[in-house]
Amino acid sequence: MRFGNIHEYIEKNTDYPLKRIQEYFKYTKFGILGYGPQGRSQALNLKDNGLNVIIGLRQGESYKEAIKDGFIPNINLFSIDDAVKQGDIIMNLLSDAGQKESWHKCVLPYLTKDKTLYFSHGFSVVYKKQTNIIPPPNMDVILVAPKGSGRTLRTAFIKGEGVNSSIAVYQDKSGFAEQNAKFIGFAIGSGYLYKTTFENEVYSDLVGERGVLMGAIHGLFLAQYNVLRERGHSPSEAFNETVEEATQSLIPLIAEQGMDWMYKNCSTTAQRGAIDWYPKFEKVLKPLMNELYDSVYDGTEVKNVLEQNNKKDYRYKLDEELALISNMEIWKAGKTVRELRKKDK
Ligand SMILES: NC(=O)c1ccc[n+]([C@@H]2O[C@H](COP(=O)([O-])OP(=O)(O)OC[C@H]3O[C@@H](n4cnc5c(N)ncnc54)[C@H](OP(=O)(O)O)[C@@H]3O)[C@@H](O)[C@H]2O)c1
Repeated sequence: MRFGNIHEYIEKNTDYPLKRIQEYFKYTKFGILGYGPQGRSQALNLKDNGLNVIIGLRQGESYKEAIKDGFIPNINLFSIDDAVKQGDIIMNLLSDAGQKESWHKCVLPYLTKDKTLYFSHGFSVVYKKQTNIIPPPNMDVILVAPKGSGRTLRTAFIKGEGVNSSIAVYQDKSGFAEQNAKFIGFAIGSGYLYKTTFENEVYSDLVGERGVLMGAIHGLFLAQYNVLRERGHSPSEAFNETVEEATQSLIPLIAEQGMDWMYKNCSTTAQRGAIDWYPKFEKVLKPLMNELYDSVYDGTEVKNVLEQNNKKDYRYKLDEELALISNMEIWKAGKTVRELRKKDK
């Protein structure tokens, strides 16, 4: 079930056309807690789909952002506890560390059995020993986890496309939990839904983002770029052979029709070398991936996230770390190459 234009698709081909979604949620108030990348995108997509959305926030940076986007204090923008009191579906899209911080004071006291508790990550409930987040047993608890950044969920929606999401049910007291997750999944702008469990979602997600999606790819880029530079290649050559060709030409081919399609579209010289070398990379990297999985599974990663992300100076320190990355020669070379790309057009 994949399609080009989500709006058209929803109207014509699915069991979940927008009209049906609107009818289904006619009397439902979505209480969205948090206005980070996911909170903002899910809120705006639901709102643009004609559904009743309120936001629950502390008076911080994202409160200002919500006002900029047209949310109005005491009309559809509230404190976290007020949004929990008023909402029917409580979409907990605070940062994972923020979910832990706010749970006992602002969320749990106002959850009643007729409300649904919704997450976009299995983090809080799966690692309950560390987060102390244990939902009341008499309510539905579901998950819709978009497999893309919040920003992509919104830009894809605006373009008429969808992002794949997983759905899961942790508690089904109403008998409708899975159905509700499907309706919400399409309502927030998913194009394709697949079933998982809270546990599998969080283990695969934490491994994925530390691994191939973000951490490992950055490490791989650096290793190759630095070897090329140490062997006398120019920044431009090292960047083009490492990042530019990957992101602009080859990864899109993998996305289009798979890995074999990428190989088919490259020279026989490139094919021969790459097909001989990939098992060597796999052999070297697999033990590291297992180490990463263990660190996710035993809660080490979660402990670190909760300790670091709730520190007062977390954002400040993060900005410093990102500045360090931005100032690496490889990413400076990237800026130049992107500028040249623009001039080409
Ligand atoms: N980002 C993604 O691509 C992505 C993808 C799939 C799933 N998810 C999941 O979606 C959820 C939300 O993630 P996100 O990336 O959108 O958000 P985020 O950047 O992790 O969190 C942002 C929101 O949390 C609030 N917040 C942080 N700490 C708080 C605290 N102690 N008390 C009250 N509010 C607090 C922030 O408010 P202030 O502005 O006031 O700090 C902001 O509104 C998480 O469970 C995440 O794992 C994210």
